[in-house]
Amino acid sequence: MSHDTTHSKPWSGRFNEPTDAFVEEFTASVGFDRRLYRQDIRGSIAHAHMLSKVGVLSTEESEAIVQGLEAIAQDIDKGQFSWSVTLEDVHMNIEAALTERIGPVGKKLHTGRSRNDQIATDIRLYLRDAIDAIATQLRHLQEALLDLAEREAETIMPGFTHLQTAQPVTFGHHLMAWFEMLARDNERLADCRRRVNILPLGAAALAGTTFPIDRAYTAELLGFEAITENSLDAVSDRDFAIEFTAVGALLMTHLSRFAEELVLWSSAQFDFVTLPDRFCTGSSIMPQKKNPDVPELVRGKTGRVNGHLISLLTLMKSQPLAYNKDNQEDKEPLFDTIDTLLGSLRAFADMVPAIKANSDKMREAAAKGYATATDLADYLVRKGASFRDAHEIVGKAVAHAIEQGEDLAALNLETLQSFTPLIQEDVFSVLTLEGSVAARNHLGGTAPTQVRAAIQRARRKLSPQP
Ligand code: ARG
Repeated sequence: MSHDTTHSKPWSGRFNEPTDAFVEEFTASVGFDRRLYRQDIRGSIAHAHMLSKVGVLSTEESEAIVQGLEAIAQDIDKGQFSWSVTLEDVHMNIEAALTERIGPVGKKLHTGRSRNDQIATDIRLYLRDAIDAIATQLRHLQEALLDLAEREAETIMPGFTHLQTAQPVTFGHHLMAWFEMLARDNERLADCRRRVNILPLGAAALAGTTFPIDRAYTAELLGFEAITENSLDAVSDRDFAIEFTAVGALLMTHLSRFAEELVLWSSAQFDFVTLPDRFCTGSSIMPQKKNPDVPELVRGKTGRVNGHLISLLTLMKSQPLAYNKDNQEDKEPLFDTIDTLLGSLRAFADMVPAIKANSDKMREAAAKGYATATDLADYLVRKGASFRDAHEIVGKAVAHAIEQGEDLAALNLETLQSFTPLIQEDVFSVLTLEGSVAARNHLGGTAPTQVRAAIQRARRKLSPQP
């Protein structure tokens, strides 16, 4: 990036001395907003077409501008563009290059607009594409979860509350819980996109413009679904960025929860899953180590996205209307949120299909911890006990089993009957793990048939999307 003295600033007319060198660095955004060049050029091309449609530019003028802009886009694509800090931001760098390339007619492009509505347009275009890319990655991860859930629909594991063994569940059911979290993220993303996809261009600096602009035409050219209603709001609104980051923070929070379970489960103490070697790393000192770096890192990256949400909320807090330079600070948190989401989703989408469930270990763990105690209580209710009495009786039986160091199912009928005569020979079928999960056979329950039905419904819901 260069400081060049050949370009005076497009706004320097009323100034009597050049900008302080440090201030120039300090206020410039081109170091990060050049990332918006495609959107900036796309917006400018639409603006030029619109200006010629309404007669503010001649056809020849707008054609020269459009061709010049297209050539600049190619130069930047190829890395043959020299960005100048003196020219402050992506907008003025491209505009200066345009005038250099096509002559004074390039200076007509900025008619009827301002960098304030221009940057708002650029970010919305950029974010719209980013949302689509994130939705695609999200969908890959959802599909990976459905496939794994299908394979593991009957695999029994302990379900936890308070991280203590609670009741047996199927691994497929657990994976479908993750899927549900992502399905909500997907909906939120689509909803957020509706408020991103609105054209602010035409607001100009803050009050609109004196030229007879056709905003509907510009919106159509850029694929915006709507047009902002108020020029002051159009240049100052960053709600859409906050909403997107909030969606991202929640999505990362979900990924951090999956990550945490994968880290726990891949430990020697749990050993429920084996993560593929290619997603793990070793230790430079402990030869035996295989560390679950990918889930750990995703868990850790949640912090930065949560931080970006707070940054953006704080950025907008108490800002007076309309545009303020503060808003230049919206880009880095937004870009980093996008990058973090894309990277984390991709890592998980690639890793999930290769997760190996250690079903023996899961089953063994489910068999410990009296996971079928509730099943025994429900059995007593079916034999005529009230649930509260049944709870008390089973609690005593569990205490006895703990004393004996035995599982409930290992106690003989006589022992079980010493707690209540309601218990009969048929009790043993309800104390099995398979019986326990199969009995929770209703919509939303953990029975393998219900898990398969949930997967089918989920696949149907996913399919109509692009
Ligand atoms: N770099 C600015 C931003 O990111 C672009 C708009 C600047 N407008 C202005 N009048 N200084 O928000």
